[in-house]
Amino acid sequence: MLLGNSLLLNLLSLLYLYVQNILCEQFHEEFIRPDFCTDKVLSNLESYLTLESTSAIQCAARCSLDNKCLSVSYRETDRTCFLNFGLLANDCGNGVTLTNTVYYQKKHAVKECMNNGTLVNNDCVCYGGYVGRYCERLMTDCSEGYREMYEDAGIGLYEALPTGAPQSFSVTCVMLHGGRNLVLRHFTPAYTLNRTWVQYVDGFDHGIHASWIGLEKLYWLSRIKTFDLFIEFQTKEVPATYKKIVYKNFRIGNSSTNYQLRGGQLNRARSQVNATDCIFGLVGSSFSSYDMDNNQVSGLDCPLKYGGAWWYNGACAQCNPTGNLYHTPGGNRTWADDEVFWEPFDWTPIGISIWLVN
Ligand SMILES: *[C@@H]1O[C@H](CO)[C@@H](O)[C@H](O)[C@H]1NC(C)=O
Ligand SMILES: *[C@@H]1O[C@H](CO)[C@@H](O)[C@H](O)[C@H]1NC(C)=O
Ligand SMILES: *[C@@H]1O[C@H](CO)[C@@H](O)[C@H](O)[C@H]1NC(C)=O
Ligand SMILES: *[C@@H]1O[C@H](CO)[C@@H](O)[C@H](O)[C@H]1NC(C)=O
Ligand SMILES: *[C@@H]1O[C@H](CO)[C@@H](O)[C@H](O)[C@H]1NC(C)=O
Repeated sequence: MLLGNSLLLNLLSLLYLYVQNILCEQFHEEFIRPDFCTDKVLSNLESYLTLESTSAIQCAARCSLDNKCLSVSYRETDRTCFLNFGLLANDCGNGVTLTNTVYYQKKHAVKECMNNGTLVNNDCVCYGGYVGRYCERLMTDCSEGYREMYEDAGIGLYEALPTGAPQSFSVTCVMLHGGRNLVLRHFTPAYTLNRTWVQYVDGFDHGIHASWIGLEKLYWLSRIKTFDLFIEFQTKEVPATYKKIVYKNFRIGNSSTNYQLRGGQLNRARSQVNATDCIFGLVGSSFSSYDMDNNQVSGLDCPLKYGGAWWYNGACAQCNPTGNLYHTPGGNRTWADDEVFWEPFDWTPIGISIWLVN
């Protein structure tokens, strides 16, 4: 009986050693421990799963089961196993220091680009707003896209996911000058901007003629960073000339506040014109459209008077970018209440563009 027992134990331990051996052999066949980047692991951005394992070998065995997994980091002190979709770069540029951690990568792992990115010279070229070493995440706004991937890519539609936003959305970016988020474009008189609340909340896009980003997007974008509101007028002159006004610290509230204007001061140094501070004068005002007048102070129906939708105070506003475009000869103002104007200019523009710039 005693003999039988110890025989069984011996057999079991042999079996155990055998299994360990197989695991170990597989492990050495499949994984290597690079001799560079000692004590470095991938940042959590390139790690997709954290679990507990009894050993580095077991951690690696878990990685073997998943094609997406290219490498593992194992911290012995608390038996934490990190599965990574990325690889440590040769220059360790994407590595962070973590003590008591070993890093192994699959021997034949090649960098794989996610979200339809393509590998060019061992770098992922991403599309559609995806950024990161592996195109693994969406940009938070156009300026991040510009820095990370899309420098000088011109104008286009990209997907963005601002920090904290419940879901991603599309935004038109001008991937020049540091990357700009298009807020408003108003160039063609036939495309009226006298539209409903729902359209102003959701946004609309008629290409070069007219577009509005949508208040919900504007809220999520403007809440994450300090943005400038960059306004550019095309004036009457031939050939076309442009004048710009820059407001700093532009910010709006969420839908519960009817997208109240929360910030925006004229940046005189960066503006080409001595405009009155229309935006600053509207801080604290809610947004209104003809079918949703949130400006109950004055008894004045500003959206109806101005023929558009905007933030209005008791005197409506000293600017009217969503009014009607009257392309007068010489560009002179008509002084109609509903024309596009920006005080104190005595001209009415051919067109107006507004961007959110980081
Ligand atoms: C990748 O391309 C496929 C096929 O064109 C498309 O269905 C899919 O939506 C794309 N994925 C992303 C994240 O763009
Ligand atoms: C708007 O923000 C306030 C304060 O953060 C929050 O209490 C409220 O729930 C938000 N409203 C919506 C619709 O998200
Ligand atoms: C704005 O006004 C200031 C002071 O009057 C003047 O020095 C400056 O040249 C003006 N700037 C422009 C662009 O007209
Ligand atoms: C704006 O649209 C509303 C609703 O159609 C209309 O009553 C109003 O006259 C329009 N305003 C202008 C200036 O066109
Ligand atoms: C535009 O206004 C200027 C004065 O500001 C005037 O001299 C000019 O005649 C006007 N042009 C037209 C076409 O009305």
